[in-house]
Amino acid sequence: MRVVGITGSGGVGKTTLSVNIASCLAATGVRTLTIDADLYFPDMSSHVRVPSPRSIHDYVTNPEIDTEWLISQYNKIKDLYFVLGEVKMKEIDAHAFSMVSGLIEVLKNYYGAIIVDFPSGVPIESLPLLSSLDLQLIVIDLRKIPLVDLEISILNTVYKYWKDETKKLGVIFNFADLPERRLEVLEEYIYSELGVHILGEVPYTHSLLMEPYLGIPACLDGELPSIERITQELLKYYL
Ligand SMILES: Nc1ncnc2c1ncn2[C@@H]1O[C@H](COP(=O)(O)OP(=O)(O)O)[C@@H](O)[C@H]1O
Ligand SMILES: [Mg+2]
Repeated sequence: MRVVGITGSGGVGKTTLSVNIASCLAATGVRTLTIDADLYFPDMSSHVRVPSPRSIHDYVTNPEIDTEWLISQYNKIKDLYFVLGEVKMKEIDAHAFSMVSGLIEVLKNYYGAIIVDFPSGVPIESLPLLSSLDLQLIVIDLRKIPLVDLEISILNTVYKYWKDETKKLGVIFNFADLPERRLEVLEEYIYSELGVHILGEVPYTHSLLMEPYLGIPACLDGELPSIERITQELLKYYL
């Protein structure tokens, strides 16, 4: 069993990639749980509309509740499970994130993989949660990186999210609509400078844009080869 955290800045695609990587893993037969650990802006439930009797926020405020009530099974894919959140808490502190780590400890043995969707920017309060990961993935939105200094800007983004608590690190490029050769050179550069593996790149994809409006993981509607490749890399190197 492996716990994989999806981190990065706001709006880079963390929730979208969490949901679709989890769906792909489940489709290959890995029993997968996806946790919406963005306690500040929980919005995974707009990407996957499933009934959820209790939210992660209920658990954080009352850890006595039966974890069975937290977990929703996605009916269209066997092996796909979610713990969703809701905007409910007024104050979110390090203790709340430690509670989520505790939940992962409890559930860990029942799943082949747990995907944890992080709050944007890896706030200091979320560091206890970072230490419960086996692998931290950083999602980088290539639209937001200045093209002239692409290499250095990417290195700086990786350094920014590479914390003492990080055990193993990987990177995904989202909105990666650059020529293939340019992406290859970039990958080689990041690997040679930092030893950090780029798991893959996801181009702008209309079905991913529409996902929060439709409430169904985009990969269920059709093929998403870029996400499939990332899932294969995960299986090959980390799971
Ligand atoms: N590769 C992509 N192509 C098109 N739209 C995308 C892609 N990745 C993410 N999006 C869209 O970008 C927006 C932000 O994504 P989201 O996953 O909510 O980001 P985050 O969780 O990092 O804040 C959403 O509207 C989502 O549908
Ligand atoms: Mg999000």
